[in-house]
Order: sequence, then structure tokens, then C-alpha cells
Amino acid sequence: MTTDNLKIPTVALGTWAWGDSGEAGDGYFGSPLTQAGLEEVADKAHAAGFTLWDTAAVYGMGRSETVLGDVLKPFARSDYQLSTKFTPQAAETGDDPVTDMLGQSLARLGTDYIDLYWIHNPADVARWTPHLIPLLKSGKVKHVGVSNHKLSEIELANRILGEAGFRVEAVQNHYSLLYRSSEDAGILDYCRNQGIPFFAYMVLEQGALTGKYSPENPLPEGSNRAATYNGMLPQLKALTDKLASIGQRQGAAAPEVATAWAIAKGTTPIIGVTKPYYIDGLVRATSIALSSDDITALEALADAANVNTRGWWEQEMEV
Ligand SMILES: NC(=O)c1ccc[n+]([C@@H]2O[C@H](COP(=O)([O-])OP(=O)(O)OC[C@H]3O[C@@H](n4cnc5c(N)ncnc54)[C@H](OP(=O)(O)O)[C@@H]3O)[C@@H](O)[C@H]2O)c1
Repeated sequence: MTTDNLKIPTVALGTWAWGDSGEAGDGYFGSPLTQAGLEEVADKAHAAGFTLWDTAAVYGMGRSETVLGDVLKPFARSDYQLSTKFTPQAAETGDDPVTDMLGQSLARLGTDYIDLYWIHNPADVARWTPHLIPLLKSGKVKHVGVSNHKLSEIELANRILGEAGFRVEAVQNHYSLLYRSSEDAGILDYCRNQGIPFFAYMVLEQGALTGKYSPENPLPEGSNRAATYNGMLPQLKALTDKLASIGQRQGAAAPEVATAWAIAKGTTPIIGVTKPYYIDGLVRATSIALSSDDITALEALADAANVNTRGWWEQEMEV
């Protein structure tokens, strides 16, 4: 049995972009990144009390985990939580590919346990979920969750873990103003009823919902996210303007209001942090009060934008 409860932060920190080379325009995000800059991100996060870091073995094929392990070295292991993932598509051919991939993550992160270990997607729930059980028993993994699973797949994973005395302790899906499929499919309600924390990823739609990108100042040329979002930016302007105007009343900026929306919906947003001052924004986001009228207005503008931001790796979430 899992002995201690998973500590759920108000906001978690995402490091997918840290898998890029750091050269402007190169990779998935194309954000310029330096080791010194990411060390400062970690310092500020530590000082502000944001302690849960999300990564995956496949982000930059290990690079994100390596960089994260490096920048967290100055801190006591008990001062932060690590969340990383087993990706079925990257499984090697040994007897136990989950243990193998976990071992590689542990080495890159410089630790001997992971606080929250995820099955990254539901490629074969019946095959991969049971592999989590020995990892939980050994203590190499403290808690487990499933990502990109639809409701029936979460329930199946929960049954498989339940037979061994464990449970799905967290769900991680794409959830933003523009992409509310987990809410429409009843996953948010299910999680709330079962007491399972729901981690929302891509709350800022990889920067497209921050208001700082526009047709005049597009997402970094050559990056994957530019290919996905640049064509949508004109349709997002009314929504990002509204995020900014709600924020102005409370001394906050548009991305902070988008983050506050996800918190108000009962989720734990995982926000991709590439610059130190974004941590200040997260502090502000946690104290923004949104009225139900604000939420209704934002969701109406999001619907009116009429864009589909489902990632290429995601399935439809209908029940
Ligand atoms: N389980 C899964 O399949 C899955 C899939 C996707 C993501 N995730 C997780 O969720 C995390 C979050 O998703 P994401 O990183 O893809 O996208 P995101 O959080 O929606 O957006 C991150 C981008 O938004 C911009 N940003 C962040 N804070 C900002 C601020 N305060 N002001 C202005 N701009 C800001 C940054 O862009 P610039 O760098 O251009 O400044 C950053 O790269 C990932 O890092 C990863 O840990 C999981």
C-alpha cells in the first residue's frame, strides 16, 4: 500500500521546453535557454515554494531530465518532488522496459526515487499498468498516475492497481481554456468524486494564450509550436485581450489569469517555465480571484475562437 499521501501543490512546474537545445528557434519550443537562466528558475521556484517538477524521459530524449537534475543539485532532495513518465512508444525490448526506462530517468535526475511516476499515454493500458506495481513496492516510485487516458482507461488502470492494493493517484491531461475535453468527457468530475488530483498541462497552449505572441510577433520560427499555433493567433486575440483586462484589475498579466482559471476549475496547472520572471507570475496567479462572470466570459470567448488545439499525441476524450 502507498504509505504517504501525495502532496498536491497549487501549481506544478513543466520542463518539456528544457529538452530543446536552447538555441532560439530550434526544437519543440525554440525558446532561448541557458544553464544559468534555468538555475535561476530553480532558485526562484525554490524560494517561492513551488516544488513539484514535471518532466519525461522523452523530453529531448533525456535532455530535460538531465538539465533538471543538474539545476536541482543545490537543494535537499526532500525539498522538491519529481514527476516523470514512462512512454510506451519509447520502450526498449528487455524483460521489463518500464523498470529500464525508470532506471535511466533516475540516473539522469540524480536520484533514487521518483515522487510521481506516470504512464505517459494509454498505448496499452492492460500491458503497461501492472509494471507500476513492483516499482511502488520497491519504493523507487512513491506515487503513480496516468496521462492522456480517457475515462474508461483511467478506470481500467485503477482496477489493475486496485487488485494489488494501489490506485491511480493522479491524472494528467491537456486542459486549457481552449481545450476542455477532459471536462466535457466527465474526467474532471470523476477525479473530483474519486479524490484524484487532476494535473492540467498546456494551460497556456505553449505560449499562444499568453498574449505576447501575435501575427506581428509570432512563436519562434522553426519550432514545432510555431507550426501549430501561429495560424491561430488572430482568432485568439479577443480571448487574450480579455485575460489581460481581467488581470489588469488585480495587477496581473494574461498568462497569470489563464493559470488562475485552471486553478479555479479545481485542477493543478503544470506551467512550462522557461524564464525566471515567470515564477513571479505564478506567485501572482495563485492569489487571483476570478468571479463566475469572469470564468463564463473567458470560456465564451474561448469557444468563439473556434480552434482545435489537440496535440498530435492525443486521442479524443469522449467516453
Ligand atoms: N503528459 C503529456 O503528454 C504532456 C504534454 C504536454 C505538456 N506536458 C507537461 O506540461 C508542461 C506545460 O506544458 P507546455 O510547457 O507544453 O506549455 P504551457 O505551459 O502551456 O506553455 C509554456 C510556454 O508559455 C510561455 N510562458 C510560461 N509562463 C509565462 C509567463 N508567465 N509569461 C509569459 N509567457 C509564459 C513560455 O513561452 P516562451 O518560452 O516562449 O517564453 C513557455 O514556454 C510541460 O512542460 C510538461 O511538463 C505534459
